[in-house]
Amino acid sequence: MNDRVCIRDLAAAAGREVELRGWLAGRRSSGKLVFALVRDGTGVCQCVVEAKTAEAFAAAERAPLESSVKVRGVPRLDERAPGGVEMSVTSFVVLQGAEDYPIARKEHGIDFLMNHRHLWLRSARQTAILRVRHTVVSAARRFFDERGFTLTDAPIFQPGAAEGAGSLFPVDYFGERVFLAQTGQLYIEAAAMALGKVYCFGPTFRAEKSKTRRHLTEFWMIEPEVAFAELPDLMELAEAFVCRLVEAALTERREELKRLERDIAALERVAPPFPRITYTEAVELLRGDAVHQRLLAALEADRARLAAESERLAQLEATRAAEKKAWRQEQMDREIAELRETLRELESDLGHRPAHIEGARNFRWGDDLGGDEETILTRQFDRPVIVTRYPKGCKAFYMKAAPDDPRVVLNMDVLAPEGYGEIIGGSQREDDLDALLARMAEEKMDPAPYQWYLDLRRYGSVPHGGFGLGIERTVAWICGLRHIRETIPFPRLMGRMYP
Ligand code: 4AD
Ligand code: MG
Repeated sequence: MNDRVCIRDLAAAAGREVELRGWLAGRRSSGKLVFALVRDGTGVCQCVVEAKTAEAFAAAERAPLESSVKVRGVPRLDERAPGGVEMSVTSFVVLQGAEDYPIARKEHGIDFLMNHRHLWLRSARQTAILRVRHTVVSAARRFFDERGFTLTDAPIFQPGAAEGAGSLFPVDYFGERVFLAQTGQLYIEAAAMALGKVYCFGPTFRAEKSKTRRHLTEFWMIEPEVAFAELPDLMELAEAFVCRLVEAALTERREELKRLERDIAALERVAPPFPRITYTEAVELLRGDAVHQRLLAALEADRARLAAESERLAQLEATRAAEKKAWRQEQMDREIAELRETLRELESDLGHRPAHIEGARNFRWGDDLGGDEETILTRQFDRPVIVTRYPKGCKAFYMKAAPDDPRVVLNMDVLAPEGYGEIIGGSQREDDLDALLARMAEEKMDPAPYQWYLDLRRYGSVPHGGFGLGIERTVAWICGLRHIRETIPFPRLMGRMYP
């Protein structure tokens, strides 16, 4: 008898007996009834087991959380139930009992959770993030597919650097020293000369020795490359692309965003045109009085917030100590743990803030915009901002020098608002052979491994360019996450390879 349904389709089966398979995600019992929350990846269903179905009742009452289960019963529409459907259970079978599930519903530090990432993925918060990620990736592919781009994947074993030798991961390739891809860009430049508009999408690797909330050592990047495109074309493409990703998340993942307590209104403000400023204008902004005053005011406001939240924590802890009901205790423990984490981060952020404020005021033209400066800049706008024309010394060798000012290159970074910073880096490429060779010499690069790349400037060179969007940084921003580590199923960070 095939009457298995998934929870998402349960409402359509109201009134007839069906079978669910999934995991026990939660339970309440009241002596005569057990309310077992079962999840199956498509949703969560409250399964009501009455004491008169004795066998089912005993199983549901005893099964440890996260056991795998097979439940039969009759779905009933009920507005009060999570998901709008409830199931009256006729049979409740434990397939495998999960004794001592390590992630109990109490306070766990981030290290503990990261070490149990393989189980942590089951939580409602993590599945919400992974669903948003799925939607962002699938919308990104659709965006380029609909515009006539051809997917041309780049190799992951590569002979040389594209984004600076300092962040290369060497690999022993049958006795030869090669590297994991930092980007697919150089290869899809070749593909663009064959197919016009192309993109690649794959894992990329950077031996970043920085433990920041924005850096992974392995991340996924989607990179379009377009023949005959110049910087203004690239900005337009990037703007439309970012808007499309946000729109997809807003329409397809609104429930998940709400669960993550994302400020939806902030995402709804993401619409063209994005402000476009040059690096030089960005430096003036950073150093200017207006920003300085705003930063000082924000510092004061955050200090006040820290004080208010600390007080709230103390009150919560006092209420928790007096609480008798176990389920309320659990709920409050979670709230307290979250608040403590927020406070710890706020406190550490406030500790660094005065130095950042000084750093911005004294920022020198020629220095790269780091995470702190990006954070400050993006807080001055309510939507993503595009920063162009960086000093060539901050940027990769392949970027084209501006014809009207050879100190800067024709590049663009798209910075996400609310302090998130760079999600896209791109540029018009140097398409002149001699200029490119001169630039490589300046960077003391050996041209030997790049002969194939230089060939693109020897045989039918044309203006072209593209950009790369980091999926994880984009998902962190769209979901409103403090740290990038939750945006990828199994993050690779400096100092983290397990699981
Ligand atoms: O600015 P990046 O280094 O640009 C490139 O790699 C170009 N070759 C792309 C191109 O023009 N085709 O990186 C592009 C994006 C960044 O804006 C960021 O979103 C992401 O990749 N990214 C990282 N994400 C997570 N962890 C890291 N360590 C990252 N480094 C870059
Ligand atoms: Mg960059």
